[in-house]
Formats: sequence, C-alpha cells, structure tokens
Amino acid sequence: MDLLSRVIGLLGLLSMVSVVSGIGANWGTQTTHPLPPETVVKLLRENGIQKVKLFDADYGTLNALAKSGIEVMVGIPNDMLSSLASSVKAAERWVSKNVSTHITSNNVNIRYVAVGNEPFLETYNGSYLRTTYPALQNIQSALIKAGLSNQVKVTVPQNADVYESSTGLPSGGDFRTDIHDLMLTIVKFLSDCGSPFTVNIYPFISLYTDSNFPVEYGFFDGNASPINDGGTNYYNMFDANHDTLVHALQKNGFGNLPIIIGEIGWPADGDRNANIEYARRFNQGFMSHISGGKGTPLRPGPIDAYLFSLIDEDAKSIDPGNFERHWGIFTFDGIPKYALNLGTTNSGTLIPARNVHYQERKWCVMRASALLDDAQIAPSVSYACGLADCTSLGYGTSCGNLDAKGNISYAFNSYFQRQDQLDRACKFSNLSTITKTDPSFGNCRFEIMIEPYYGGVEGTLGCLHKSLGLATCLFLILLAIL
Ligand SMILES: *[C@@H]1O[C@H](CO)[C@@H](O)[C@H](O)[C@H]1NC(C)=O
Ligand SMILES: *[C@@H]1O[C@H](CO)[C@@H](O)[C@H](O)[C@H]1NC(C)=O
Ligand SMILES: *[C@@H]1O[C@H](CO)[C@@H](O)[C@H](O)[C@H]1NC(C)=O
Ligand SMILES: *[C@@H]1O[C@H](CO)[C@@H](O)[C@H](O)[C@H]1NC(C)=O
Repeated sequence: MDLLSRVIGLLGLLSMVSVVSGIGANWGTQTTHPLPPETVVKLLRENGIQKVKLFDADYGTLNALAKSGIEVMVGIPNDMLSSLASSVKAAERWVSKNVSTHITSNNVNIRYVAVGNEPFLETYNGSYLRTTYPALQNIQSALIKAGLSNQVKVTVPQNADVYESSTGLPSGGDFRTDIHDLMLTIVKFLSDCGSPFTVNIYPFISLYTDSNFPVEYGFFDGNASPINDGGTNYYNMFDANHDTLVHALQKNGFGNLPIIIGEIGWPADGDRNANIEYARRFNQGFMSHISGGKGTPLRPGPIDAYLFSLIDEDAKSIDPGNFERHWGIFTFDGIPKYALNLGTTNSGTLIPARNVHYQERKWCVMRASALLDDAQIAPSVSYACGLADCTSLGYGTSCGNLDAKGNISYAFNSYFQRQDQLDRACKFSNLSTITKTDPSFGNCRFEIMIEPYYGGVEGTLGCLHKSLGLATCLFLILLAIL
C-alpha cells in the first residue's frame, strides 16, 4: 500500500514535470548592454527552459543556441513584412540565411517562424494589414522549397485585440470586425499548414488601462467573483480570454486549431501595479495553473506558453508605459527578481546567470554641495533621463521613495552607466560627482552595466565605433579571433 502510493506519487510528480518542462521564454534584445548570448543560453539551460521565442533572427543569438537542443521560434520584425510580401526571392533568402543554414550547419533546433509581431495591433493603424498574409505565404513557400515545412511551422503572433466578444463573455468571441475576413484567411492558411495560432495575453495591460478592472481577476488565486458563461465559471482573465479565442475559432470552423501562448507575464517595475509582489504572484500563479495540464474550460490539456519575458530590456520604447522595460523574470544582468518555481530546477528556484562581467564599482551622484534649487538641475535630469532609463522613478516604483537628491542622483547615474562610465558623462554643470559608495537604497538599485559585449565581426566594428582606446580594442579583437 505504502509502496503503491509512493509509486503513484512518483508518477504524479513525473507527469507534472513533463507537462511543466514545456515552458518557454521570450528573449528580446532591445537592451543597451546585453549579456553575451552564450551566457543567456546557459541561463536558459540551467533553468530548464526548453523553448525560446526570438523577435528576429540575429546570427550571434542563433549561433549560441547551436546544439543546445532548445526549441527556437525565430521572428520576422514587422518592418520586414513588406519586402517579404512583395518578393518570393526575398523570402527564400530569408529562410536560407536565417533558418536553413542554422539548422543544417549549426544544429539549431528551429521549430517556428513568427511572421511579424502583433501586426494587427490597433495602435499600428492598419500599417501591416496588406503585407502580413502575403509574407506568411511567401515564407511558407520558401520553407517548402527548402524541404523544411514539416519541421518548421509558420505562425503570426497576434495580440489578443484581434478578437473581441459582443457579449463580454467568452461565448460571444469572434474576430474583430474590421479584420474579420483577413483573420479567417490567415487562420485557414495556418490550419492548412498544420501551424498553430499564436496569441499574447496580458491581464496586466487590462489593469493598467482600466482602473476599474477587478485586480483579483487578473491573478489565479480564485479570489475573484467568477464570470458565469452559460454554466461555465471563469475565475481568471487568462482562461476567459483564451476561451474567447477558442469560441472565435469554433464559430468560424477551426475549433481544433492548436494555440500557442506567445507571450504571457507581468512587469515588476515602472507602475504602481507593476511590482515584485504582483509579478511573482502572476507568474507563479500561471505556472501552477498550467502545471496540472488541465488547460482551460474549453480546451482541457497542456498549454504551450512562452513567458514574457526572460530578461529586462532597457532600450524598449516606453510609449506604452514605463513598465515596458521591466517584464523580465531576470534583471538585465541575469539576476532572478523573485522566487519563481518553474518546476524545472532541482532547487525549485531560478538560477542566476554565471560569470557576468560588470564595469567598475563606481557611481555618478549629485554633489553634496550642489543646491536643489540650482536652475541647471531640471535640464540636466531631463537630459539624463532622455538618454538613459528613469522608469524606476515615479509613484509606486522601486525607486519611488527616493528623496529629491536621490532622484537626481538616480538620473545622473543611469546616464553615466549607460555611457560606460566615461568621465565626461558625469559632468552635469558642476552638479555631479563620482563615488565608490553604492547609493542603492532598499529595493532601489543604482545599476552598474555589464561590460560591453564584443563578439564576432559586428562586435569588433562596435568596438571601434565606441572609440575605446585602440589598445583595448585590439585586445578585444584578438579575443574575438581566438
Ligand atoms: C536575417 O535576419 C536578420 C535579423 O532579423 C535580418 O537583419 C536579415 O536581413 C535577414 N536576412 C535576410 C537574407 O533576409
Ligand atoms: C496612428 O494614428 C494615430 C492618430 O492618427 C497617430 O497618433 C499614431 O502615431 C499612428 N501610429 C502609427 C504607428 O502610425
Ligand atoms: C562648482 O561648485 C563648487 C561648490 O559647489 C564651487 O566651489 C565651484 O566654484 C564650482 N565650479 C564651477 C565651474 O562652477
Ligand atoms: C522623484 O521623481 C519622481 C519621478 O520623476 C517624482 O514623481 C517624485 O515626486 C520625485 N520625488 C522628489 C522627492 O522629488
């Protein structure tokens, strides 16, 4: 009896691990000081993340993924859609250079090509409506011609705004009226290719844009009053949103099309609702929610999902909001932000990146003798913030409790570090000075950047461009060659 229950327990554990191990992560690279791709690949492997979704097809990134076994979704940025839509040859070149070569000579496990990224997002004003489908067709033809169409599937990651519900309930789901026919054309094509529908779902954005959004409904703890849809209860927004899509697909005759959750996550800074506590709660809640493989009310079974995101990106546009630069489960330098059990490591926690090379331990802060009412302060701070990253300042953020002097120092330092600690980057009208004492305070981290990464030929050019000392540069070039 005892043995039996232990065996059953073990089986349960194994099945849970095998379901959970499917978790993927988005790896974006809009950052001023990226970790070397080899370090990120090691980070993925040590954390048991088996699938990665990219937003382009950067050579260095794909090269680092060689022989890792990690499943890769490569991406085509929206600004390439029109050239790929208008030329089969361009699509063939793209597939040859960015897929075939990596698979055949590099052993990169490429499984998907994401054609565009949320191309029908309402804020794009229809810019990609005419090019997405032809680009999708051309890429698929190119994959067929390259003999890869069984192994590599095309898909189009869509924002959840491509569907809506006339009733507010999942059962009212259908594709947005202005793109309804186009969506059906694409869905039929995906179905014919044996490809999945990819959708990004963001309860955080709902909360961010609607202050009346019931907070608990964004999470997975079952604390929200459920929404009753013809006898089916929905306890969280993810399930309801997902099943709105399933209804939209069913209604149009594609009820069995596989769905991939291309992005799901919660930012940890940059807004009063973007904090460590909520981010942990959401991501852990999501992992537990999908770990049993029970799926959603309309789609029981394992859920194929990519967390958004792996690491913070300090060069992302903050037009959508200051939180944009804080989606990572790891900071820009590969430090876990909070305890998160993906079910994929022995320790049950996230493993930090190893061998990260930081610049010197020195910071740029406001000079003790400088006066707060100095007329140069405001322009200096806005100059620094404009070129650096001040998204951790503001109400409810990690550095939101700094005093005025702390605020100013934070801005100066952020600029100084992003200028790789150049002396002249800490000369704000006699208001600033360099210190060796870490000004970090509580949760507010005065960052030091990673040493600039110079890998391969591009890196070497970057080195010359950044006008490092010639000796340093030659040394780095030597390293790159070796
Ligand atoms: C391959 O992908 C990279 C990165 O997205 C892009 O810059 C390049 O133009 C692509 N190559 C071709 C031949 O289209
Ligand atoms: C979309 O249109 C709005 C209003 O006309 C404009 O402010 C915005 O810049 C446009 N966005 C794009 C991506 O063209
Ligand atoms: C800089 O400020 C210090 C005191 O804060 C002052 O003694 C010095 O003259 C100032 N230098 C310039 C160039 O304004
Ligand atoms: C610090 O900066 C933030 C964001 O710019 C601002 O909201 C806050 O009021 C500032 N605090 C002080 C004490 O100046």
